[in-house]
Amino acid sequence: MLVMQEKYTSEELAKLPFRDSNLELEKRVEDLLSRLTLDEKFLLCKGKWYSIFHVNPIKRLGIRVFKMTDGPHGVGSGVLFSRIKTTYFPVAICRCATWNPQLSEAFGIAIGQEVRDLGFHMLLAPGINIQRTPLCGRTFEYQTEDPYLNSRTAVAMVKGLQSQRIAACVKHFACNNQDYQRFKVSSEVSERALQEIYLPAFKATVQEADAWCFMACYNKVNGIYGCENKNLLIDRLRDEWGFRGFVVSDWFATRYVTSTESCVNAGLTLEMPGIPIHCKFNKGQLSKAFHEGKFTEETLNENIRRFLRVMFLTGLFDEKVQLPPGSLATPEHTAVSREIAEEGMVLLKNDNNLLPLKIEKIKKIAVLGPNAKSKMAFAGGSSIVRTKYEVSSLDGLQTKCQGKITFVNTAAEADVAIIVAGLNHKGGNDCEGSDRTSLDLPPEQIALINQTAQENKNTIVVLINGSPIAMDAWIGNVPAVLEAWYAGLEAGNVIADILFGDINPSGKLPITFPKKLADSPAHKSPSTYPGDDKVLYEEGIFVGYRHFDTKNIEPLFPFGYGLSYTTFTYENLQISQDDKISITLDLTNSGERAGAEVVQLYVQDVESSVERPLKELKGFQKVALEPGEKKSLTFELSEQDLAFYDENKRTWRAEAGSFKILIGSSSRDIRLEGEFEYHA
Ligand code: BGC
Repeated sequence: MLVMQEKYTSEELAKLPFRDSNLELEKRVEDLLSRLTLDEKFLLCKGKWYSIFHVNPIKRLGIRVFKMTDGPHGVGSGVLFSRIKTTYFPVAICRCATWNPQLSEAFGIAIGQEVRDLGFHMLLAPGINIQRTPLCGRTFEYQTEDPYLNSRTAVAMVKGLQSQRIAACVKHFACNNQDYQRFKVSSEVSERALQEIYLPAFKATVQEADAWCFMACYNKVNGIYGCENKNLLIDRLRDEWGFRGFVVSDWFATRYVTSTESCVNAGLTLEMPGIPIHCKFNKGQLSKAFHEGKFTEETLNENIRRFLRVMFLTGLFDEKVQLPPGSLATPEHTAVSREIAEEGMVLLKNDNNLLPLKIEKIKKIAVLGPNAKSKMAFAGGSSIVRTKYEVSSLDGLQTKCQGKITFVNTAAEADVAIIVAGLNHKGGNDCEGSDRTSLDLPPEQIALINQTAQENKNTIVVLINGSPIAMDAWIGNVPAVLEAWYAGLEAGNVIADILFGDINPSGKLPITFPKKLADSPAHKSPSTYPGDDKVLYEEGIFVGYRHFDTKNIEPLFPFGYGLSYTTFTYENLQISQDDKISITLDLTNSGERAGAEVVQLYVQDVESSVERPLKELKGFQKVALEPGEKKSLTFELSEQDLAFYDENKRTWRAEAGSFKILIGSSSRDIRLEGEFEYHA
């Protein structure tokens, strides 16, 4: 249908039906769609060429510039070339290590307020690809190796963010599990692994949080690039899951796709950025393919309709007063960032209760190591943040100890030596664009740790990194290790608070730390990692602890692991079955300090017609208790929680028979066990 380009005066424009915010959303969308000419629709298919986070306005219809920005732990890339300072939040792996979805929701709200304040409509986050290999350069930007924890964390974040009428852009759909060869590689993955491991969190953000945008990945999935993958973008996302939003390409991801029409027909709405030499959605290309009959206007309309819907949802046509108020870098946002850091850091080792340190008993302290003074916000790739400030570990420790403890330069003369080691955001470390090449710390760090441990038996290692590292070369020599991640602008203060006991650590690992790379499921052979044109996901569903448990390989630290300064007692497991399976238990803080425990519920299918993991996480609760306090906890499981994806029948299926419920403080510290018969 040929639409004429009508000219409206501003009074006429204001009276058009789509401008009426009282009109039903879908009516507004259809009215606006009906007024767009073909060329205007083409214009909305790609970014503005000279500004890599914007889409062209259509002034005739009052369509303003649609603006996007990264990213996963603070508003960054979209304001990179300005002097604007924003809040640096802990990276996604740290946020996930809180096992506290409420904090992910609070984070979504806080960052949404910053996005809103700066005039953007969409945040390019969360990144929720499964951590398949510990070497992936973006492990720090992703959440976990487990699909259930991934779903709970992602859903909460998307809900929080979109409550501010800022679109989430859930990325990178799908199987962008390594950065090595990311523009070229095909992730060759079974249907069962897609269903059970790689897609559940994406699906949950659609079905439980109504995510408004998905970002198509760089890589191919089973031979087809994300941006032209109809199976992913239409068959699953739209048709099976009921997605009502639109799909944007990852930046430059259309560079190697087959054709313009393959992307349009696969349901890609927006190509970013709009730099003509890389584009498939230039006006000339779209027009040619259209007039040659390679895609229909109906198909194009469906792609555009989805974008218009999100424009309305994010308030592109609304005046400021009609929108949730934004705010930038406020004390409240700092508080959210700090809380995530407090709950996300993981105490890995604490022999003889060396920690918490008693400030009155220490006279001299040495703070050593390459990360002691490091500030981490302004690096890492597209997740870069220009933070309003950042407290390094040394800053935090000096503030805490001021006037009470003397800082000395050598471990030998100190009562306690703290080594702040780990990685950084330089290429080849925790950084977008390439992967790490080794699981080890750099040799000079290992030497420093071992040397220091010889000089001072009270040597504490604080790790600042966003992906697992091997520790066998040194961990036996030190009594205490804290995994502090990249923990946002208050990181150094929180590290000091944990080391000196003002905060009782409660984070748990969202990813297995292997002893060595070869133990990790993706590292069976060069074709399973790093691959070349193809990377074969031969381990199938046995990713992370599913692999370590089932194959009986001892990890360095298991999934779900993390120490506390107090102890917890688990008792009275009861299982009952009606429509749902109900599980109750009592948890007591049996130690002398207030603290929080993450109670983890794993399910084991005792006998099954297909190979299944030894256990799978299907529930968790983070519970804060005063010393001596006891709480009863209830979990509910549904049939879906017992099911596996049956590739032959192409459906999820729970088989009748015995199932075990394993309640643990980590995936390898099971405190209560029960069994029940499931009648299918
Ligand atoms: C990254 C995305 C990011 C985009 C825009 C790409 O390089 O893969 O995660 O959102 O750039 O900065």
